[in-house]
Amino acid sequence: MRLLDLLDETYQSGEALARRLGVSRAAVSKEARRLLALGFPVEVGRRGYRVRPGTPLPHLFRPQGRLGSPYRYLGRVGSTQDVLRAWAEAGAPEGALVLAEVQEKGRGRRGRVWESRLGDSLTFSLLLRPALPLPSSGLLPLLAGLALWEAVGLGGLKWPNDLLAPDGRKLAGILLEAKAEGEELAYALLGVGVNVAWAPEGGAHLQEFGPYSRKEVLLGFLGRLEALLPLLEDPKTLLARYRQASCTLGRRVRVETPKGAVEGLAEEVLPDGSLLVGGVRVGAGEVAPLPLLE
Ligand code: BTN
Repeated sequence: MRLLDLLDETYQSGEALARRLGVSRAAVSKEARRLLALGFPVEVGRRGYRVRPGTPLPHLFRPQGRLGSPYRYLGRVGSTQDVLRAWAEAGAPEGALVLAEVQEKGRGRRGRVWESRLGDSLTFSLLLRPALPLPSSGLLPLLAGLALWEAVGLGGLKWPNDLLAPDGRKLAGILLEAKAEGEELAYALLGVGVNVAWAPEGGAHLQEFGPYSRKEVLLGFLGRLEALLPLLEDPKTLLARYRQASCTLGRRVRVETPKGAVEGLAEEVLPDGSLLVGGVRVGAGEVAPLPLLE
């Protein structure tokens, strides 16, 4: 029974759905409970059944460009990164998107766990296959962060690509996992987690700042990313745009790197995507702002 294909954002009675599907009302109710158990945000009320508004169900989600298609919309998974990796290995094209409602093993950068809540978070992975020499692949995380920042029009980017609210709380994070083939990038799995209507302890969510919907944020991100992708061949312009979005550059920071902490003024982002802090080049690490000097 394809109840999920018939649901939309307005309630439909059990009777009407049963008629459309050619089954009994009891069968509709049973299927709705099964979908809920699988992690889909189905809402059951006095007026019938609907999907939580803003849910990017395949029949309600129409990406304008080539990113976001083909599209797999899933309930409960381990991590969308793993689902997409298997798909990429099986030959999925650039633009393939896996979105899950619940991740049981959502992961963040630097081995962290990524938490989300059913129907309130946006968690997806997008497949890119840019023809990029490996040294230039450091620009991809910056480009992805910039696309997200432009899509939501709020806050700033903490290097490389955490989206922060104006008060510094985290709104979204991006995890890039790539596979190399010789000196080139075979593919990149761009994993994006956005707190839309809920945030874990200490984080912020978009709906604190406006009526953001998961579907609109996703469509906005895909549109901005597609428009920005050509800038991978124009690092100067990309970095100039990135600078405008950054809330790290021009500040005193402490970066925890795998080789120890580096402190100083965040001066510049270099063409390989690394951060220049007090004259030291930092390739990867966790940035924390330092108090201003008197
Ligand atoms: C970070 O800020 O540390 C990055 C968070 C990335 C989370 C997303 S959610 C979708 C995709 N699947 C995952 O397991 N992680 C990324």
